[in-house]
Amino acid sequence: MTTQDSTELELGDIQAGALMPRPHPYAGAYLALRIDDRNAGRELLRRLIPLLDPVDKFDPARPVSLAVAVSFAGLQALGVPEESLATFPAVFQQGMAARAADLGDVGDSAPEHWEAPLGSKDIHLVVTALARDTSLMESLVLLAEDAIRDLPGVAPIWHLEVHVAADGREQFGFSDGISQPTVEGTGILGSNPLETPLKAGEFVLGYEDETGVVAPVPQPEVLGRNGTYVAFRKLHQRVAAFRQYLAEQAADQAEQDWLAAKMVGRWQSGAPLALCPDKDDPELGADPERNNAFMYGDDPRGLKCPMSSHARRMNARDAVITGQVQLHRMIRRGTNYGPSLPPGVLEDDGADRGLMFAFVGAHLDRQFEFVQRQWINDGKFIGAPAETDPLIGGFENREFTVPKRPIRRRVQGIPNFVVNRGGEYCFMPGLRGLRWLADLDT
Ligand code: HEM
Repeated sequence: MTTQDSTELELGDIQAGALMPRPHPYAGAYLALRIDDRNAGRELLRRLIPLLDPVDKFDPARPVSLAVAVSFAGLQALGVPEESLATFPAVFQQGMAARAADLGDVGDSAPEHWEAPLGSKDIHLVVTALARDTSLMESLVLLAEDAIRDLPGVAPIWHLEVHVAADGREQFGFSDGISQPTVEGTGILGSNPLETPLKAGEFVLGYEDETGVVAPVPQPEVLGRNGTYVAFRKLHQRVAAFRQYLAEQAADQAEQDWLAAKMVGRWQSGAPLALCPDKDDPELGADPERNNAFMYGDDPRGLKCPMSSHARRMNARDAVITGQVQLHRMIRRGTNYGPSLPPGVLEDDGADRGLMFAFVGAHLDRQFEFVQRQWINDGKFIGAPAETDPLIGGFENREFTVPKRPIRRRVQGIPNFVVNRGGEYCFMPGLRGLRWLADLDT
């Protein structure tokens, strides 16, 4: 590790798709490609690079955008030399399926149940296409398909259409995508004015991070610098089971809404419990100036927002927990896939619906994997070893405590509401890194 000073961020090299906020609302698609012939793979990169925006050319008014990420198997398929491959972190080299036990991908979420070809060594490139609406989206997918045409050595093997609704709600009915970290040096405002911006090295390779050092960058430098890691997960949501569970636990709709809000840490409108613990405030929920301007320090017992709620687990802000919050933050992109379950329906209709989750960060192990292991599937860090994340913790028969006076409320027998249908770890190089890959002559 080196302790050199971080220099100014090279915003002309970092892919906009890594750091920039997405349009809202939007339609999108994830396309996975297999490279059968390395020269065809390199030619595809040459065709894609001109379609990618760097951060400093990013125009929020631009209606469409693409981003490109490569798995470890993809780097191998492109012919990246051994001495370079060996400089990538071990967990990335192994891929997400091999990390299943650590990530809590067991039972229904275990790789043997994943949707093919997810989890196989065939996922080489992942192209993310985003557009403001569905018709633009179709033209964007055509553009990406055009780039692949007459390249028989590259095969599109999987795709998923995703969308973010105008009201920003995910499939359980909650407003999502509200809270993101601020990244120092990007000029992108975070959503919480009370949080200190995080060092760029938490999200982009080649810069100082929150530990005060520049972490090792995959070599050669031109490939690794300005890159970042992305963890994709296709998370199926058991919406009917979620509603049924709430209905069983609560006497009426108001109590169901209350319990669901306690599990999430926000009301459905997005209003945080930290600011309105007892009653939803939709105006607050819809106000981006206020809906993330809060900390938890004045609520050490979780009487407003339970320590074990999803949002508080995922970012405990200034609350006292075991460990340091700023070492485990992430940029997070969640998009819905599949039809929504109509309001009020309690029976599962068999449709595949959920959230295509994407983590972005420079440290797969101490950010994404740590969060899966300690903050989602355990509770020791908040002094509740028997609890997991009540919304997304990956096991059956779980419990959740709502601190409350005079006595707490504890619910038990919580089923697993979220099943991982598959995913992969990818590296999202900077534009120079992509060019280096395209120009390989091995
Ligand atoms: C189907 C799965 C999931 C659903 C339905 C879901 C839902 C939500 C909702 C409703 C919020 C509150 C809105 C916001 O603050 O933006 C939220 C926040 C968050 N979620 Fe999730 N989430 C899911 C999976 C995950 C996973 C797998 C991770 C991490 C590995 C994660 C990390 C976060 C983080 C970091 C926040 C922001 C916390 C904050 O800064 O206050 N979520 N999620």
